[in-house]
Amino acid sequence: MPLRTLHDANGLGLPEDQVRAYAANLTIIDAETGEERPRIPTDHFPTVPHADGMGPDLSLMAKARAGFHGPYGTGLSQLFNGIGGPEYIHAVLTGYNGETKDEAGSTFYHNSAFAGNWIAMPSPLSEGSVTYEDGTEATVDQMAQDVAAFLMWTAEPKLMDRKQVGFVSVLMLLVLTVLLYLTNKRLWWSVKHRDEKQQ
Ligand code: HEM
Repeated sequence: MPLRTLHDANGLGLPEDQVRAYAANLTIIDAETGEERPRIPTDHFPTVPHADGMGPDLSLMAKARAGFHGPYGTGLSQLFNGIGGPEYIHAVLTGYNGETKDEAGSTFYHNSAFAGNWIAMPSPLSEGSVTYEDGTEATVDQMAQDVAAFLMWTAEPKLMDRKQVGFVSVLMLLVLTVLLYLTNKRLWWSVKHRDEKQQ
């Protein structure tokens, strides 16, 4: 995903100068010159290789860990509760109880949301890790909610646009249905009332 999407109105809506400043903090090896340079908004977010204890690429994780598939696998509950991925990410980020174990040379951390309950990722969030501009308290729960919402956006950056278009389309179809119904009534009126006219 290009960094400029941070400016999208239906996304984070960051001002352009902030997007440019954020991009400039990240470097990239230029494809043409082969030299390292600061990123510009049209460059993509950096991807981190899944190695050296780094986690997987999280940009699609909110969709990869979708849930709420019930009842009986119909997926109907997603209509009311959402896709379930951000809830899972929030649960993983807040699911630590501090217990650790060493196994086969690796350290695992107890996490109530992770399958098997032992995850190779140390808790990435701790109270006060960031400062909110509006003074919101930076609790782990609060940050986990924001990270989960952000990862849902990276997984489906155009979701809000699509929902808006869908809403307007359904509304138009409803109006069209009413108009067609009335037209139908009007067209058949004379046929249906032929007997009355003859009398
Ligand atoms: C806020 C930042 C982070 C978030 C939102 C996050 C989220 C996640 C998620 C959702 C998974 C997948 C869990 C699953 O497979 O169901 C994961 C796995 C993993 N993450 Fe993170 N992570 C973050 C930061 C980090 C950091 C800083 C590290 C490295 C120190 C890391 C290391 C890992 C590892 C090694 C795994 C694989 C775990 C396993 O399969 O046992 N993560 N992370």
